[in-house]
Amino acid sequence: MPGMEVFGAEERKEVMDVLETGALFRYGHEDLRKGMWKAREFEAEVRKFTGARFAHAVSSGSTAVASMMAAAGIGHGHEVIVPPFTFVAPVEGVFLGGALPLFGEIDETLCLSPEGIEKVITPNTKAVLLVHMCGAAADLEGILKVCEKHDLVLLEDCGQAMGAFYKGKSVGLFGRAGAFSFDYFKIATCGEGGVTISDDREIYDKMDQVSDHGHTHIGDNRGMEDHHFMGFNYRINEFSAAIGLAQMRKLPDVVRVNKKNKKHLKDRLKEVEDITFRYLTDEEGDSATFLNFFFPSRQIARKAFDQFGKDQVGGITYWYTNMYHYINQWDHIKKMSYPAPLSIHALGAPQDYHQLELSRSEDVMSRMASIGIRCTWKEDELENFADKLVKSIKKVM
Ligand SMILES: Cc1ncc(COP(=O)(O)O)c(C=O)c1O
Repeated sequence: MPGMEVFGAEERKEVMDVLETGALFRYGHEDLRKGMWKAREFEAEVRKFTGARFAHAVSSGSTAVASMMAAAGIGHGHEVIVPPFTFVAPVEGVFLGGALPLFGEIDETLCLSPEGIEKVITPNTKAVLLVHMCGAAADLEGILKVCEKHDLVLLEDCGQAMGAFYKGKSVGLFGRAGAFSFDYFKIATCGEGGVTISDDREIYDKMDQVSDHGHTHIGDNRGMEDHHFMGFNYRINEFSAAIGLAQMRKLPDVVRVNKKNKKHLKDRLKEVEDITFRYLTDEEGDSATFLNFFFPSRQIARKAFDQFGKDQVGGITYWYTNMYHYINQWDHIKKMSYPAPLSIHALGAPQDYHQLELSRSEDVMSRMASIGIRCTWKEDELENFADKLVKSIKKVM
C-alpha cells in the first residue's frame, strides 16, 4: 500500500494551502484561491508521469470508469467484455451504464487474455473493458489485435495500475481512454479520487463534461457555459486533489523502491521448486505493487494458506476465497440485483452468469497467492518476512 505508507509533510503542505484559502471547489473562485488550483496541478502531474496529452481528475476510480464509458458512447444494450477477476467496480459500471457484461477468461497475466476475449464475442459486442490487475499491464499487443479485428472499443480500467507501463507507454493510453483509482489502497492515493486519461481531445472533453453535469468549462461564467449533453457530479474536491498531487510527485521513487523489494522477495521465492510467477507482459513496466505467484495445484495452495495461518505469516492474499475480487464471491452480481430496474433486466443477460465456463480463470485463481509490496520495508523486516514465507511454503510442497 505505498500511497498511504508515504503520506507525510508534502501532503500536509498541499492540504494546508487549501485550508488557508478556503477554495474547496475545483472551478472558479479566483478571488479566494491565490493562484492555487490543486485539481489542475494534480492533473498536470498525472500527465507528466504517464505522458498522456489529457488527464481529468474525478471523485473516484468508479466515477472515472463511469465517465470513460459514457464518453466512449458505451451504454444501453451494448455488450462489454469484462474479466471475472477484478475489483467489482468496472462490472458495476457496465450494469449501471445500461450495458451488458460478458465475462471472458483471464490467464497467467491475471488479466483478460486475447483468446478469452475472442471466445465470448458475439455480433452485439461493442467494447472490452480491460482491467490491468495488480499493478501490471495485460497482453496489450494481443488484445489490441483482437479489438481491431472485431471492431471493438478498448477501454482500460487502470484502477490498480498507476505506475504500470507497456513497452514504454503508460497503461490507459492504448485504448480510447484509461481510468485510474486513487482510493486509500492504491500506489498513489487522494483518500478518495480518480483520474481519466487519453490522448484524444474529443474523448477527454466528453469525460470532462460528463463528470460535471455537462458543463464545458469554457469561459468563466460557471453554470452558464454551453451544455452539449447531460452529465452528473463526479467532481474531485481540492483537498483530495492536493493529496494526489503530492503523492504523484513521490511516485517515481515509490516504484523504484517497490521494484527493489519485489525483486528481493521474488529471488527468495525462486528457491522453492515448483512455484511459478504471474506472467508479466513487460517486466520493466511493472509498478511492482504486488508479487503474485502460483502453487502447482489448488490443494497445495489451500495447504499453504493453512500453514501461513499456523506460522503467522501475514500479508498474503488468497483472492480466490478471501477477497471480494473474484466472481465466485459475486452472487448479487450473478443475480443482477439492484434496487432499481436496469437495462439488463429488460433486455436479458447475454450469458447465464450462474453457468459460466471459466475453467482457465478458476485454475489460475485457485492456485494464486499475492503479496502486497511495501516500499517502507526495512532490509531486516523484508529478510525476516522472506525467511518465514519460504520456510512455511517448503513445509507444504
Ligand atoms: C480495478 C479497479 N477498478 C476500479 C476501482 C474503483 O476505484 P474506487 O475505489 O476509487 O472507486 C478499483 C478499486 O479498487 C479497482 O481495483
